[in-house]
Order: sequence, then C-alpha cells, then structure tokens
Amino acid sequence: MVIAKSEKCSLVSRQLEDFDWFWYWLNNGDWRDTDAPWEITLPEEKENIKNAFIKGIIKENFGIKTRVWIVTNEMKIGSLNAYGFNKEKKSVKIGIGIYKPEYRGLRIAQSALNLWIKYYFENFDITRIELETYNFNIPMIKTAEKIGFILGKIQNNIREWNNNKIDKYYYYMEKEYK
Ligand SMILES: CC(C)(COP(=O)(O)OP(=O)(O)OC[C@H]1O[C@@H](n2cnc3c(N)ncnc32)[C@H](O)[C@@H]1OP(=O)(O)O)[C@@H](O)C(=O)NCCC(=O)NCCS
Repeated sequence: MVIAKSEKCSLVSRQLEDFDWFWYWLNNGDWRDTDAPWEITLPEEKENIKNAFIKGIIKENFGIKTRVWIVTNEMKIGSLNAYGFNKEKKSVKIGIGIYKPEYRGLRIAQSALNLWIKYYFENFDITRIELETYNFNIPMIKTAEKIGFILGKIQNNIREWNNNKIDKYYYYMEKEYK
C-alpha cells in the first residue's frame, strides 16, 4: 500500500514476502558503514528479527507504520523507520537508509524524509520528531539540516571506532516550525 507519494518516490508499507529482501540489506551494502557500523546482525538473530518483522506488519494493519520502503521507478531502494515513541513528549525518532548507492545524491532521501515527517505530524499525536546520527555521517548531517532539522546537542566521544573518537548528533524538528 502506498502511504505517501512525491515526484521523487513513494513510501510503501511492507509485506510478509519482503522479509528476504530486508534481511539481505540488513547484512549487505555500504549503507551500513555510515548508519551505525558497530551494530552488526548475527545469523542466529534471523528468526527473532523475522518474528518482529511479522508482528510489526500485523500491528501496522491497524495503525501507525514503523517501517516503510522507499520506492522509486517501481523498485525498493531503501527504508525509513520510526522508534522511541514518547507519549509525554509526543515525540518519535526516525531513521533512513538508501541501500542502493546509485540512488543516493538524487534528493530522493530529502523527499522521502519529508513525506515520513508529514505522515507523523498529520496523522498522529506527534509534535516533535528526532533524528540521531554521528559526526562522520556528513550526508545525513547535510540532509537533516537541509530539510529543517535543528541540532539540539552533540554528545562527544560516545565511543571509539577505527581509531577515531565518535560524537553523536541529536537533531529535532517541532511540528509548529515545519
Ligand atoms: C544519509 C542518506 C539517507 C542521505 O541520502 P542522499 O541520497 O545523499 O540525500 P539527498 O540526495 O536527498 O540530499 C543530500 C543533501 O546533502 C548534501 N550532501 C550529501 N553529502 C554531502 C557531503 N559529503 N558534503 C556536502 N554536502 C553533502 C547534498 O549535496 C544534498 O544537498 P543539496 O540538495 O543541497 O544538493 C544516505 O547517504 C544514506 O542512505 N546513507 C547510508 C545510511 C545512513 O547513513 N543512514 C543515516 C543513518 S542516521
């Protein structure tokens, strides 16, 4: 089901038969180098991840979608997700991955994020959207700032990776300012 559409892409709800495609991309592709490269999926986690995927789809049939595919030219090229719902703050965190590198740098990510943000602000009691990334992820930092996210804080030196100290960037966007 298409939940939102722009000139650049559509956001499409996931189906049970999409799991193998999703599992492939969880374990392959350069997109993982900038997402959170220290978070790796182990083969023995497949069953649990599949069960969560199936449960997620069943829940989504009745309400809020927490992961959708980004589709362009009728092809799935990546996904958007949402997590960390906070009822008091009326907030949610979002993430994005364009799995296929040839579809990066085409402003599809900006368009997909704008659709995803609109979906939350217009359909649910959400007034704040947050996005977290790391100092080395320049494409994500640029994209977030381009579409109106504000840098709320930087947490320095959260860990070391490849002999570099990693800083975490916390972005947010309030509904009234979007
Ligand atoms: C982060 C990501 C979604 C951005 O996607 P994208 O296809 O580059 O984004 P878009 O083309 O829509 O827009 C990128 C913008 O940032 C700018 N940008 C990207 N990389 C840049 C760089 N290294 N230096 C300066 N500007 C840069 C682009 O010029 C563009 O701005 P413009 O419209 O003014 O030209 C994509 O790189 C990705 O999927 N990465 C792998 C997964 C990941 O890291 N996800 C984020 C986890 S927090």
